Amino acid sequence: MQLRFELRSLSKSLNILCSFITVLVVPCLTQMSEECVCLQRKANSLLNPVYLQQALDENNRFYVAEQYGVIHQYSPSWTKEENSILLDISSDVVHDGTLLDERGLLGFTLHPDYNRNRKLYLYSIRKYNQNDYAYVTEVILGEKNGKYTENVLLAIKQPHHQRNGGQILFGKDNFLYIFVGDGGSEDGSSDAHTNLAQNSSSLLGKILRIDVSNYDIVSDRPQNYRVPNDNPFVNNASWLPEIYAYGCRNMWRCSVDMENEVLPIYTYNYKQFSAVIGGYVYRGKVLSKLFGKYLFADVAFSEFYTLIRNNSQWITGNVSVCPEEMCPCNARSQPGMSLISFGQDNQEKQVLHAVPQEFGSMFT
Ligand SMILES: *[C@@H]1O[C@H](CO)[C@@H](O)[C@H](O)[C@H]1NC(C)=O
Ligand SMILES: *[C@@H]1O[C@H](CO)[C@@H](O)[C@H](O)[C@H]1NC(C)=O
Ligand SMILES: *[C@@H]1O[C@H](CO)[C@@H](O)[C@H](O)[C@H]1NC(C)=O
Ligand SMILES: *[C@@H]1O[C@H](CO)[C@@H](O)[C@H](O)[C@H]1NC(C)=O
Repeated sequence: MQLRFELRSLSKSLNILCSFITVLVVPCLTQMSEECVCLQRKANSLLNPVYLQQALDENNRFYVAEQYGVIHQYSPSWTKEENSILLDISSDVVHDGTLLDERGLLGFTLHPDYNRNRKLYLYSIRKYNQNDYAYVTEVILGEKNGKYTENVLLAIKQPHHQRNGGQILFGKDNFLYIFVGDGGSEDGSSDAHTNLAQNSSSLLGKILRIDVSNYDIVSDRPQNYRVPNDNPFVNNASWLPEIYAYGCRNMWRCSVDMENEVLPIYTYNYKQFSAVIGGYVYRGKVLSKLFGKYLFADVAFSEFYTLIRNNSQWITGNVSVCPEEMCPCNARSQPGMSLISFGQDNQEKQVLHAVPQEFGSMFT
């Protein structure tokens, strides 16, 4: 897997912090050391938990997506809820059940007004006519647990089972940003001549930006979203209007820093590392040394890294994990065998991470 931020043409209004492939983790409420972070396991028995979000409603539940197509619910204290499955689309998605498959349910996000409309958005790989497609869908949860309706927003043919992308998130502007992989193979052979990330008529290898609060009629067909009229290429007929940025290979985990507009562009040495797992700018109150730093990881290593700007330079650092005897509760000394994703809670803005076959811990 290749490891480089390849955002060649990012429009300036949004600060998107990106990465590639990707599990989950949480803290103990005691005084923490400033020099290292304590990690605590929050959930296990999960196969590739790829994403986590906490609902902003009366229950404040954590939703954790497993790559094979199930979203689980946990209470804010991480006990499993009685009806613990929020959504099960496992019979619709393509996933071979192994840790290394790059397909499946790759991302989800809650509508900013989820509390009222119970809508969430999914990025998943599904089969249609023998081909794999990246589906972007809107799910409206029903009153009864397990019942939902689903509307397709986009279906993008993916030519290869690797580099299928998968982040989906709302920006500060309440538009939906979709991070589509270029669908090339790991060795580059399948995209060597097609170079679809640079192709203005393809949605592959792009960041897309759409307005899901409105719908439209395009070429006499109903479309379940509208293209914002300030998308960068809307006035150029050679470009698909949904395109917001292009030239991206496989954006696996990306985030928006709600407090800053700085876009880090950092080139990652992929000869030394394997594939960057994008995280968050730490805005938690507990670890003052990490405040304002971008936390990320590499899929091949069980370590956390930080990135912070000093004048015009980006400086990287390592985060050391405290020995268990320094930490309260069920502390662990390692983040996990490899890190595959990050998440964040709503209240404390602590960062959680995910590792294959379990939900990681939280930095406290
Ligand atoms: C760009 O992609 C379109 C749609 O997939 C394809 O028809 C076209 O040949 C591609 N153009 C180039 C220059 O590869
Ligand atoms: C439209 O896009 C094409 C292809 O990138 C470019 O060559 C052309 O200059 C653009 N036209 C305008 C008016 O920006
Ligand atoms: C930040 O950059 C300045 C020079 O621009 C340098 O003197 C200083 O040591 C740097 N700080 C860190 C923490 O690297
Ligand atoms: C983390 O520390 C190790 C050993 O000190 C070093 O080799 C590595 O480059 C560091 N990583 C980053 C991203 O700074």
